[in-house]
Amino acid sequence: MELHLHIEGTLEPELAFALAARHGIALPYPTVEALRAAYSFGDLQSFLDLYYKTCDVLRDRSDFYTLAMAYFARAHADNIVHAELFFDPQTHTSRGVPMGDVIGGLRDAMADAERRYGITSELILCFLRHLPEEDALATLEAAMPFRSEIVGVGLDSGERGNPPAKFVHVFARAKSLGFRLVAHAGEEGPAAYIREALDLLQVERIDHGVRCEEDPALVERLIRERTPLTVCPLSNVKLRVVPRLADHNLARLLARGVNITIHSDDPAYFGGYLGDNFRACAAELGLGAHQLTALCENAIRASFLPATEKATHLSRLRRAVAQWTMRSLLP
Ligand code: HPA
Ligand code: ZN
Repeated sequence: MELHLHIEGTLEPELAFALAARHGIALPYPTVEALRAAYSFGDLQSFLDLYYKTCDVLRDRSDFYTLAMAYFARAHADNIVHAELFFDPQTHTSRGVPMGDVIGGLRDAMADAERRYGITSELILCFLRHLPEEDALATLEAAMPFRSEIVGVGLDSGERGNPPAKFVHVFARAKSLGFRLVAHAGEEGPAAYIREALDLLQVERIDHGVRCEEDPALVERLIRERTPLTVCPLSNVKLRVVPRLADHNLARLLARGVNITIHSDDPAYFGGYLGDNFRACAAELGLGAHQLTALCENAIRASFLPATEKATHLSRLRRAVAQWTMRSLLP
């Protein structure tokens, strides 16, 4: 299950150059290698600056289709069965790309991914928190013709100085329209932003949330309420939220009973897709079969799938784990 993935963050340098050539655009780096070499970030903002620039190559419906199909091929290779994709319409509509082309291209790919790979997926529209709430409200209205194609709304971009409280009205409106609600909080921002996302925005899942430990009463609450935290370990290392993966608090939080799930965030930029995140955590944090299974179960339960599909995925997971256990016991 991939529940925290920015589809624009799956744009590999090779595809960025191919799309730039198609549209006759110059990228700020001369070669694929130079662009990849620029993927060294001091913090969230330095990543976002490059990420939004590279998005300039996404110009039409077929670009969004190509981007998402490339992701689904990788997701299939990682045995992902369901993905809930974040997309940032403001990054594209501000450059003149129609909302319908963004959503249309992504939905075309989602339909093909289900046919070709059996992967189900949903779209979550994210508001850019560095922009005013009025822009988010206008974006939500502009998305209404596509209401049935979007499962929920989220909040991303630069967290510091842009608290969830800034978006109370647009989240209330989205809730009244029946959207599911999530928000990035406690990645670079303080634990207080996690509380705001829960209390003021009424979100069901927190994206990242790793700074919750700075508020022990909040951790108790997250445990009690089983609030999912969609944690992205390799992202947290790349953006220096944690110094090294071995220092990550996810294993400790999981052991305490926090509802942790693992995802890949912006895998083209952060050095790994979902399988890489799982393998790195197993190696660096000493997670065994029991914890890895718990992370997968948490993600199935935290997804926006209907209860019947969650039950099917849970039983498939248990069968796979049992087979794997049996095989590892055989000589
Ligand atoms: N954090 C906030 N906004 C983002 C991210 C992230 O990791 N990736 C893409 N937009
Ligand atoms: Zn994210």
